Amino acid sequence: MESIKVNLIKTEDNSYDILIKEGVIAELAHYLKNVKMAYRFAIITDDTVKALYGGKLQKDLLAHGLNSELIAFPAGEKNKSRETKAWIEDRMLENNFARDSAVIALGGGVVGDMAGYVAATYTRGIPYIQIPTTLVACVDSSIGGKTAVDTPHGKNLIGSFYQPRRVYIDVATLSTLNEKEIREGLAEVIKYGVISESSLFSYVDQNIDKIFSYDCEALTYIVKRGCEIKARVVEKDERESDLRKILNFGHTIGHAVENLSGYTISHGQAISIGMVAEGELALEMGLWKENELVSLTALLEKAGLPTKMPEEMDIKNVIETMKLDKKSRGGQIEMVLPKAIGSMSQTRDGYAHKIDESFIEKVL
Ligand SMILES: NC(=O)c1ccc[n+]([C@@H]2O[C@H](COP(=O)([O-])OP(=O)(O)OC[C@H]3O[C@@H](n4cnc5c(N)ncnc54)[C@H](O)[C@@H]3O)[C@@H](O)[C@H]2O)c1
Ligand SMILES: [Zn+2]
Repeated sequence: MESIKVNLIKTEDNSYDILIKEGVIAELAHYLKNVKMAYRFAIITDDTVKALYGGKLQKDLLAHGLNSELIAFPAGEKNKSRETKAWIEDRMLENNFARDSAVIALGGGVVGDMAGYVAATYTRGIPYIQIPTTLVACVDSSIGGKTAVDTPHGKNLIGSFYQPRRVYIDVATLSTLNEKEIREGLAEVIKYGVISESSLFSYVDQNIDKIFSYDCEALTYIVKRGCEIKARVVEKDERESDLRKILNFGHTIGHAVENLSGYTISHGQAISIGMVAEGELALEMGLWKENELVSLTALLEKAGLPTKMPEEMDIKNVIETMKLDKKSRGGQIEMVLPKAIGSMSQTRDGYAHKIDESFIEKVL
């Protein structure tokens, strides 16, 4: 037998900067002109964000002599599909986008996940820039390089890890979000407080009114701290081998609740319920104290998020759904659990706690 080894040990530097400032989008064209990342830009967005910010961004690029096309699909999670991806790719192909192109993802998490995945596979990969415009996208989906589309079999099942070249966060764009969208992001920010920083938790508690009145300083603070926490976790564990799992606090039960409700309970609402339920398990296991769970519940309620599972939801169904989750291992339910507001509890094998079904049923 002949054997030839193809040596492909990679030492890639995928580092990138996240820039946070009111009005920072205006600096993008200048940057793109200087770095010569690409000759053509596909600004991928949804129709809502196109009307608010897309036209202006394209004008800006054109004024700097940068060739660009605005490609907008209808807003909404149901369009985060393989069909939409193909539709966008066809628009790019018809417009002769080649390997010398780049993608600009302008919008919420739906746009970011979609445009990132288009960039990951278009002519086997072209660079992309993220401009998140929802609080969820600012503090969560634009960082970490997870890109994906949904399928009828589940959300985010087809995708890739693909890091952006830069992230531009213009907190002024958050002023056009409705309160519900702010709450969605706030659920993740409160999660960051619990998993890693009690001072962020207290900040949200003390500044909740400012956040809901779109105060730029308060929004900048929570976005910056949220990004920092996610970045520190992701850079230590890009592919979710252990530490990155702490980002899933509230999500094991949350995903099941979201799923069982047929997505009538939003992600933010579901993880809020999930954090409290997982917090109760942590309390029962003696991992953290009752006053911490009380503070968490109170802050989520203050943010207008639900903290109780809907009465019609049967815990047995929740458990069954958790076992089917793509993150469960061979039907064994695993969760990350807090040991205090600001830090997560570890077992001998890492952050994931294996939890018995009967225990969950008894406690919840
Ligand atoms: N990749 C990741 O790591 C990651 C992490 C978290 C969430 N996600 C994904 O993110 C998605 C959810 O993101 P989302 O909550 O941003 O939803 P979204 O992208 O659907 O945005 C919510 C709504 O707000 C609108 N919108 C966006 N920016 C706006 C603005 N500035 N002003 C007014 N309206 C605006 C959108 O058009 C949309 O109707 C889900 O698909 C989820 O799977 C991915
Ligand atoms: Zn989440």
